[in-house]
Amino acid sequence: MAGRHFLIWLISIGFYCSMVEGLGVNWGTLATHPLPPNIVVQLLKDNGINKVKLFDADAKMMSALAGSGIEVMVAIPNNQLAAMNDYTTAKEWVRKNVTRYHFDGGVNITYVAVGNEPFLKSYNDSFSNVTFPALQNIQNALNEAGVGDSVKATVPLNADVYESPAGNAVPSAGRFRSDINDVMTQIVQFFNQNGAPFTVNIYPFLSLYGNDNFPLDFAFFDGASPPVVDNGIEYTNVFDANFDTLVSALNAVGLGNLPIIVGEVGWPTDGDKSAEASYAQRFYNGLLKRLAAGQGTPLRPNQYLEVYLFGLLDEDAKSVAPGNFERHWGIFRYDGQPKFPVDLSGQGQNKMLAAAKNVEYLPQKWCVFNPDAKDLSKLADNVNFACTFSDCTSLGSGSTCSNLDANGGASYAFNMYYQVQNQDDTSCFFQGLAMETAQDPSTADCKFTVQIKTSASASSFPPLLMAFVSLPLAFFLL
Ligand SMILES: *[C@@H]1O[C@H](CO)[C@@H](O)[C@H](O)[C@H]1NC(C)=O
Ligand SMILES: *[C@@H]1O[C@H](CO)[C@@H](O)[C@H](O)[C@H]1NC(C)=O
Ligand SMILES: *[C@@H]1O[C@H](CO)[C@@H](O)[C@H](O)[C@H]1NC(C)=O
Ligand SMILES: *[C@@H]1O[C@H](CO)[C@@H](O)[C@H](O)[C@H]1NC(C)=O
Repeated sequence: MAGRHFLIWLISIGFYCSMVEGLGVNWGTLATHPLPPNIVVQLLKDNGINKVKLFDADAKMMSALAGSGIEVMVAIPNNQLAAMNDYTTAKEWVRKNVTRYHFDGGVNITYVAVGNEPFLKSYNDSFSNVTFPALQNIQNALNEAGVGDSVKATVPLNADVYESPAGNAVPSAGRFRSDINDVMTQIVQFFNQNGAPFTVNIYPFLSLYGNDNFPLDFAFFDGASPPVVDNGIEYTNVFDANFDTLVSALNAVGLGNLPIIVGEVGWPTDGDKSAEASYAQRFYNGLLKRLAAGQGTPLRPNQYLEVYLFGLLDEDAKSVAPGNFERHWGIFRYDGQPKFPVDLSGQGQNKMLAAAKNVEYLPQKWCVFNPDAKDLSKLADNVNFACTFSDCTSLGSGSTCSNLDANGGASYAFNMYYQVQNQDDTSCFFQGLAMETAQDPSTADCKFTVQIKTSASASSFPPLLMAFVSLPLAFFLL
């Protein structure tokens, strides 16, 4: 009987039967045209992904997840942390966003993320005083609601909450950053008291980004790099070194065995010379093989590691303050099409993920530079305008569309704007410099987007995006 059920289950989920245990994905929605939640949930199921991490607790996403059996980490954004310092507000948040879904056929919520990387140095301490009280209130509210055994409050932290001294840059010297050592100590003690894990985001890509001296191979898992030796332990990749720096920091405050989950790890595919699909493929291939083998890090060998890939989908409205790669973290494109081969079973097979089903696209139309345009004096202004209200990050140096000539670059920019505007007739004019076409202008490297249909698209988008944009277009305006 059991055997027969197993067989049916095996057939129904096809190749993904041996999906790496503990594997989840981050589902972010900072996109002009987010994929509808029901399509995303089906995409997760079709790929055997049974854990997902969200950045809030959006009711539509939660409804789509209800009854799916997928385990969910919901989140409280940083800008609500101060409000959660009030216990009544925290209880209300838990009631509306956790316990409401806690029923048979509801949503299997396993964690509440309290904030997102609140101690990033670039936040200038904005959240340093409100994070710990918010964490306490949320876990206490979960406990009071009777769900604290199955739902744990945690705080996804960036890896710069700990470090090794510059003079002794080895994992064993890891300590929490001195400016936040007190609050970090309180936080990890609280995790320990409540059986909650430490959640850390680790980005080998960022070690490489903007650091031409960083040894490329050390970012990957294939052991091709000369090791860093620490007390006789050989580190051949930055992920292990980083993770064990955290283990040492925990050890230094007496909690060396606190469970750790990796809240974000991944590799972007565009927007920088190191952000490309072949590197992403190499990175995930190495990571997934290790997870499948149950291989931990030198200080925590053979440990089961819960890991959330970042991310599921490209997000064309993410802030590019950290770099143009920010909008290209998806293992899927914006429309749920896989970008490169990934074997989520960790067997290293060269196969594509299952694509999103039933995605509805706008018509196969593009907006391009009009070669008959006479007055080109306003071209740069118009391209600048288009890119202010859409995503031109693929045009930057080292990116997939950087080889287009000037007219091609203008076409790319005009099309991105036109698609964001849902191909509205008036959005392909640009003072006579642009025209619509039914002929796909894509090149081998550079894909010209056709956007998807979404109910929520465009209307509220441009004002929102404006605040984020820093233009990658200097090259174009020369
Ligand atoms: C539930 O979560 C949503 C999304 O984060 C948030 O907007 C809302 O305020 C929360 N509900 C309560 C009662 O706090
Ligand atoms: C929710 O997920 C947990 C952790 O995997 C599991 O133990 C539990 O059975 C799930 N609950 C439901 C209702 O599916
Ligand atoms: C942090 O401070 C720097 C320098 O004073 C400033 O440029 C930046 O905008 C601040 N960031 C935030 C999030 O307040
Ligand atoms: C945080 O609290 C400390 C101690 O009360 C205070 O000195 C500091 O100004 C506060 N920081 C912020 C950003 O509010």
